[in-house]
Amino acid sequence: MNTESLPRTLLLATCVALFCSALVSVAVSYFRPMQLAYASTDRARAILEAAGTLPGKAASERDIAIAYAALDVRIVDLGSETAVAASGAHAFDHWRLSGESDAAAAAFERAPVYLVTDGERVQRIVLPVSGKGMWSTLYAYIALADDFNTIAAVSIYRHGETPGIGDRIEDAAWLETWRNKRLSDGRDGRLDVQFRVAENAADRFGVDAISGATITSVAVGAMVQDWLGPDGFGPLLAELRQGSAEDLL
Ligand SMILES: Cc1cc2nc3c(=O)[nH]c(=O)nc-3n(C[C@H](O)[C@H](O)[C@H](O)COP(=O)(O)O)c2cc1C
Repeated sequence: MNTESLPRTLLLATCVALFCSALVSVAVSYFRPMQLAYASTDRARAILEAAGTLPGKAASERDIAIAYAALDVRIVDLGSETAVAASGAHAFDHWRLSGESDAAAAAFERAPVYLVTDGERVQRIVLPVSGKGMWSTLYAYIALADDFNTIAAVSIYRHGETPGIGDRIEDAAWLETWRNKRLSDGRDGRLDVQFRVAENAADRFGVDAISGATITSVAVGAMVQDWLGPDGFGPLLAELRQGSAEDLL
């Protein structure tokens, strides 16, 4: 019997291909929940870092989940002062990077903000920002102090910039230079953001770009201008600066 006929070879190849693709599908669906859980923890960790409430660098997934649940979350209509509590707000990922789906939420029309409170007063607000870097979309969180104008912290959540060059936006020393910078002088109820990242820009409203990674570092500043400006969180922040932060609680 000829065991090397063309039809037999094709049949064998087809069976092997089908078996392998079935194996891959099973593995993908088996690991998917774990992948989603890691992604959610990763996001919560970045938010807590900006919030200043990350329970230690070596915090377990459970510690992170507890600290994250302690934050108040509000959903903001971008470009307006409207910020409301909503069920499922802790899981709401307007970027949809963690894979949770929320059919009711139109991407980039609404976004979550995270409040650190002592139960009576808002002490910090954490805002998601994103934008185009040199090669990839950059995702970060920026925290403002209780005047809603002073930068308290920044954490970089995700990016796909060049290792050793663009990824220097994650350097703790550079991110530390953001602390205590102001978004704007607040005159005449201005909503635009004066804060910027540029070469030799270190002043009250500015941070120096990273030499050799100017494109990526300037992009981080630009996304803060976009997201915290009039079409983003600007109207809400202006309202909060007038002293209405407790209304959020
Ligand atoms: C292969 C390659 C990858 C690069 N990746 C980045 C990057 O991820 N982010 C960045 O800002 N610049 C990157 N650069 C450098 C930019 O092309 C540019 O030179 C730099 O941002 C300008 O900074 P400087 O004006 O301080 O020299 C890369 C350059 C090369 C050749």
